[in-house]
Amino acid sequence: TEEWVRVADYDDVPEEDTLGTEIGGVPVCLYKLDGEIYATDNKCTHGDADLSDGLIQDGCEIECPLHEGRFDIRSGKAASPPCSEDLRSYPARVEGGVIYIKLV
Ligand code: FES
Repeated sequence: TEEWVRVADYDDVPEEDTLGTEIGGVPVCLYKLDGEIYATDNKCTHGDADLSDGLIQDGCEIECPLHEGRFDIRSGKAASPPCSEDLRSYPARVEGGVIYIKLV
Protein backbone atom coordinates (compact mmCIF):
# COMPACT_ATOMS: atom_id res chain seq x y z
CA THR A 1 0.00 0.00 0.00
CA GLU A 2 1.10 3.55 -0.74
CA GLU A 3 -1.09 5.09 1.94
CA TRP A 4 -0.01 7.01 4.99
CA VAL A 5 -1.49 5.23 7.97
CA ARG A 6 -2.29 6.85 11.29
CA VAL A 7 -0.34 5.01 14.00
CA ALA A 8 -0.25 7.01 17.21
CA ASP A 9 -0.31 10.46 18.72
CA TYR A 10 2.99 12.32 18.78
CA ASP A 11 2.74 12.61 22.57
CA ASP A 12 2.34 8.84 22.96
CA VAL A 13 6.03 8.35 22.16
CA PRO A 14 8.31 9.45 25.01
CA GLU A 15 11.39 11.52 24.14
CA GLU A 16 14.49 9.34 23.55
CA ASP A 17 12.32 6.26 23.90
CA THR A 18 10.15 3.79 21.98
CA LEU A 19 6.53 2.79 21.49
CA GLY A 20 5.64 -0.66 20.19
CA THR A 21 2.43 -0.92 18.20
CA GLU A 22 0.86 -2.83 15.33
CA ILE A 23 -0.52 -1.72 12.01
CA GLY A 24 -2.47 -4.13 9.88
CA GLY A 25 -0.80 -7.07 11.60
CA VAL A 26 2.70 -5.61 11.21
CA PRO A 27 4.50 -5.04 14.52
CA VAL A 28 6.07 -1.59 14.32
CA CYS A 29 8.35 0.26 16.69
CA LEU A 30 8.18 4.06 16.88
CA TYR A 31 11.07 6.12 18.21
CA LYS A 32 11.45 9.76 19.18
CA LEU A 33 14.97 11.15 18.83
CA ASP A 34 15.45 14.86 19.45
CA GLY A 35 11.74 15.36 18.76
CA GLU A 36 11.96 13.50 15.45
CA ILE A 37 9.85 10.38 14.84
CA TYR A 38 11.24 7.21 13.22
CA ALA A 39 9.60 3.85 12.55
CA THR A 40 10.97 0.35 11.99
CA ASP A 41 9.76 -3.21 12.29
CA ASN A 42 9.47 -4.12 15.94
CA LYS A 43 10.78 -7.69 15.65
CA CYS A 44 14.53 -8.11 15.81
CA THR A 45 15.92 -9.75 12.66
CA HIS A 46 18.10 -12.00 14.82
CA GLY A 47 15.48 -13.62 17.03
CA ASP A 48 12.16 -13.36 18.73
CA ALA A 49 12.48 -10.07 20.58
CA ASP A 50 10.60 -6.78 20.51
CA LEU A 51 12.88 -3.83 19.94
CA SER A 52 10.40 -1.61 21.77
CA ASP A 53 11.64 -3.40 24.92
CA GLY A 54 15.22 -2.44 24.11
CA LEU A 55 17.32 0.56 24.99
CA ILE A 56 18.28 3.54 22.88
CA GLN A 57 22.08 3.85 22.84
CA ASP A 58 24.45 6.48 21.47
CA GLY A 59 21.52 8.70 20.50
CA CYS A 60 20.49 6.81 17.37
CA GLU A 61 20.79 3.06 17.94
CA ILE A 62 18.31 0.58 19.37
CA GLU A 63 19.82 -2.22 21.41
CA CYS A 64 17.88 -5.48 21.28
CA PRO A 65 16.82 -6.68 24.76
CA LEU A 66 17.71 -10.32 23.99
CA HIS A 67 21.35 -10.43 22.77
CA GLU A 68 22.17 -6.72 22.73
CA GLY A 69 22.71 -6.48 19.00
CA ARG A 70 22.03 -3.01 17.60
CA PHE A 71 20.35 -1.28 14.68
CA ASP A 72 20.55 2.27 13.43
CA ILE A 73 17.08 3.68 14.16
CA ARG A 74 17.21 6.16 11.25
CA SER A 75 17.90 3.57 8.55
CA GLY A 76 17.18 0.17 10.10
CA LYS A 77 20.73 -0.89 9.25
CA ALA A 78 22.25 -3.59 11.43
CA ALA A 79 24.89 -1.79 13.50
CA SER A 80 26.40 -4.42 15.76
CA PRO A 81 26.50 -8.22 16.10
CA PRO A 82 24.79 -10.60 16.38
CA CYS A 83 22.44 -8.54 14.19
CA SER A 84 23.47 -8.71 10.54
CA GLU A 85 20.18 -8.49 8.65
CA ASP A 86 18.80 -4.95 8.40
CA LEU A 87 15.44 -3.99 9.85
CA ARG A 88 12.75 -2.66 7.59
CA SER A 89 12.26 1.02 8.26
CA TYR A 90 9.25 3.13 7.33
CA PRO A 91 8.83 6.77 6.36
CA ALA A 92 7.13 8.68 9.19
CA ARG A 93 5.58 12.12 9.35
CA VAL A 94 3.76 14.14 11.98
CA GLU A 95 0.75 16.29 11.23
CA GLY A 96 -1.51 17.96 13.78
CA GLY A 97 0.03 15.97 16.62
CA VAL A 98 -0.61 12.66 14.86
CA ILE A 99 2.04 10.24 13.56
CA TYR A 100 1.53 8.66 10.15
CA ILE A 101 3.77 6.05 8.58
CA LYS A 102 3.94 4.55 5.16
CA LEU A 103 4.01 0.77 5.07
CA VAL A 104 6.17 0.39 1.99
FE1 FES B 1 17.84 -9.45 18.86
FE2 FES B 1 19.28 -11.69 19.20
S1 FES B 1 17.14 -11.47 19.16
S2 FES B 1 20.00 -9.63 19.03
